[in-house]
Amino acid sequence: MADPTKDTYGRIARFYDTLLEPVNAPLRAIGWKLHPTNSSMTVLDVGCGTGAHLEAYVDSGAECFGLDASPAMLEQAAARLGDRAQLELGDATALPHKDASFDFVFTSLFLHELGNSVRKTALSEMARVVKPDGRVLIIDYYVGSMRAKGYLARSVSMVAERIAGRDHFRNWRPFLRSGGIATMAPKAGISIESEKVVAGGNLALWILRKP
Ligand SMILES: C[S@@+](CC[C@H](N)C(=O)[O-])C[C@H]1O[C@@H](n2cnc3c(N)ncnc32)[C@H](O)[C@@H]1O
Repeated sequence: MADPTKDTYGRIARFYDTLLEPVNAPLRAIGWKLHPTNSSMTVLDVGCGTGAHLEAYVDSGAECFGLDASPAMLEQAAARLGDRAQLELGDATALPHKDASFDFVFTSLFLHELGNSVRKTALSEMARVVKPDGRVLIIDYYVGSMRAKGYLARSVSMVAERIAGRDHFRNWRPFLRSGGIATMAPKAGISIESEKVVAGGNLALWILRKP
């Protein structure tokens, strides 16, 4: 279980968007095109961080929930979203939601940070809480062939993962070696419906559903 007293994002939460929005904003736009939401939908962002992605779904009128293990990141999300989304401190490996609660479950740049067995549990939890006809969107590192732009982006990512801390780097490498989302998601009970590779092969967006 994640321990909120050891907030690894405590020091960077205030600067997170300044650093990451140049990467996150285009990813968000692609994710939105792949799976837009509307006011009849329920949405959960797992590892929602500062809530920048969640805001796009809030703006669509969907009923939105965000969960994160970092009090500091959630503080940023609360400042951004106020009461427009229900934000919760929690652990992705034990989601506090009933089975089949959400039309759309979303997670971005989160799963690679976890150890392999924790990641599998988090994926299974997402599969559990999405409705039978709902969809999951995952944005994360891609494991496959890269173009020159991808190698450059991957080198920058490598530095960022090292700066982010020992655990990040320790978990990121086995994530890549294990085959990433394409290999792990089906083992956690959720099937890939589509895959969109971006950033020269450094990242991808997957739409998934229950088999
Ligand atoms: C790299 S940030 C990504 C934030 C946001 N999704 C984005 O795309 O900008 C990873 C987030 O996952 C959260 N996190 C890490 N382990 C977690 C866990 N076990 N349960 C829930 N959130 C977790 C961190 O606190 C952090 O906010």
